[in-house]
Amino acid sequence: MAKKVLVSGGAGYIGSHVTVELISAGYDVVVADNLSNCDMTCFDGVKKITGRDDIPFYQIDCCDYDAVDTLFTEHKIDAVIHFAAFKAVGESVAKPIKYYRNNLVSFLNILEVSKNHGGCNVLFSSSATVYGEAEVLPVTEQTPRLPATSPYGNTKQMCEDILRDVVKATASSSEEIRGIALRYFNPIGAHPSALIGELPRGVPNNLVPFITQTAIGKRECLSIFGNDYPTEDGTCLRDYIDVVDLAKAHVAAVTRMLGGKMKENYEIFNIGTGRPVSVYELVTAFEKVNGLKLNYKFVDRRPGDVTAIWADTTLANEELGWKAERSVEETLASAWAWERNL
Ligand code: UFG
Repeated sequence: MAKKVLVSGGAGYIGSHVTVELISAGYDVVVADNLSNCDMTCFDGVKKITGRDDIPFYQIDCCDYDAVDTLFTEHKIDAVIHFAAFKAVGESVAKPIKYYRNNLVSFLNILEVSKNHGGCNVLFSSSATVYGEAEVLPVTEQTPRLPATSPYGNTKQMCEDILRDVVKATASSSEEIRGIALRYFNPIGAHPSALIGELPRGVPNNLVPFITQTAIGKRECLSIFGNDYPTEDGTCLRDYIDVVDLAKAHVAAVTRMLGGKMKENYEIFNIGTGRPVSVYELVTAFEKVNGLKLNYKFVDRRPGDVTAIWADTTLANEELGWKAERSVEETLASAWAWERNL
């Protein structure tokens, strides 16, 4: 019988791509989402791409313990991938209580319910934000985490620690939790079908949706934050990971957990390409691959941005047998196709 994976936040940007890849890998998927930061567009897209109209969907808030408990009573869940969280860095600085309550309580509920239903495999969506302004690049999983610069980043660190502690406390018990934290670098792009993609509400915070919205005319001009960084062209360096590649890393991680292949009951993997790309390079690549001119200007640095961060992906490559495959050009073309499709 197919193993069953709960995807919390499965109607969102990354969750919807992961749901597609899980289904195509033969998993049964249950999606839980409170639709607080998305609508059904992507979930409908998932159904079209997979040809599956029967994916169980629970419109619940994972902060509601009883609702999560009911879901686990109705389905025998073999693994959980937990995406359900707020993710706007700036908003988290303004509204820390909202972020701590939502991101911590929902994850605690997932863990407690998993434990009470006889243990589970839990994959947590963490972030490269935990490394802060790292001194040595690229960062490996051993690179020390630095104090978080936002409540959002802090919730990622805290949830990693919570998972580690719960894994330790439940080891070899009838309530055993095994955990993997995937530290994503900068997820971008959309499914090749252009049926699912990133759908920010309001003004986008992130670079690629801002680029595509400028290109389509929804935004007048892209502001490039800072061209006086100590990099070759003066703009920040990031590791942009294609969202479909990222989704496949989740399938590899879940398969590792369910296949009993973990070396430790709690593991961490960097999920990136291993290649630094500057903001300016990304903008010009977008223009080139899509044959258009983007209206942009250089403005002051954005507070809180690190100069450069990219991943050493050796561990994920070797242990998960996974590697980022799509080129940044393909990814940028997919982001543009998705924006036009909207
Ligand atoms: N940028 C611009 N203009 C914009 C938006 C972004 O120049 O309109 C620049 C930023 O200054 C940065 C780069 O584009 O240099 C990438 O910015 P994003 O906001 O797309 O991504 P971040 O690297 O800031 O943030 C991402 C995730 C966060 C995560 C963070 C740290 O979105 O969730 O990485 O790992 F916390």
